[in-house]
Amino acid sequence: MRKLLTARLVLIPWQQRFAENLIQMSSDERVMRFVGSGLWSRDYAFQRHELALRQWEQRGFGMRAITERDDGAFLGLVSLGDDEASGLEAPVLEIGWWVEPHAWGRGIATEAAAAVRDEAFKRTGASSLTACFHRDNVQSKRIMAKLGMSFAGEVTDRYGKPAHMYALRRAKWMVATNANSSRP
Ligand SMILES: CC(C)(COP(=O)(O)OP(=O)(O)OC[C@H]1O[C@@H](n2cnc3c(N)ncnc32)[C@H](O)[C@@H]1OP(=O)(O)O)[C@@H](O)C(=O)NCCC(=O)NCCS
Repeated sequence: MRKLLTARLVLIPWQQRFAENLIQMSSDERVMRFVGSGLWSRDYAFQRHELALRQWEQRGFGMRAITERDDGAFLGLVSLGDDEASGLEAPVLEIGWWVEPHAWGRGIATEAAAAVRDEAFKRTGASSLTACFHRDNVQSKRIMAKLGMSFAGEVTDRYGKPAHMYALRRAKWMVATNANSSRP
């Protein structure tokens, strides 16, 4: 299945070999601070790993491992899933990101998410892309701004916690993409 290449990263459709990475990240308090579920047990993380594998088979898109282009090191994940609760015109996809704490502050999440945003519009036919984050998650808010997303309302996340939803419609993405590609 399709890998995505960026300047520094290879984004790999989720594979069996990433199970331990998901188990480890989801039990790290620094990573899970703003994730509505709180820390994941080993069993629950493994269920989510299996779900990620199934989603690729069934939908042809989903969670990707973020790996370093130079040495293949695992740096985190970027997810892409159906969002049926946004109230926006379907089909809507939701994007999310986790980066290993040792790699924070290098623009990794932004670089990975921008590639997945472009793929969501080019290949999956999404009409809008959404992201849901705790309002104090300032890093994610900044990433959403850099992706061209705008505040779209207060919502309840999949874990029943209050969150802010951001969205980017296809038409706005196309205008920005055309402007960038026609720049000298
Ligand atoms: C959120 C997260 C993915 C960011 O990863 P990252 O690779 O460090 O992000 P980036 O470097 O691409 O971008 C972060 C931006 O936030 C900014 N930022 C960092 N700390 C900030 C702060 N305290 N206030 C305001 N902005 C801040 C950075 O300067 C950067 O913006 P810039 O490029 O304009 O300078 C990472 O912190 C993480 O994994 N957190 C835990 C998981 C999580 O909360 N995921 C989202 C919810 S599911």
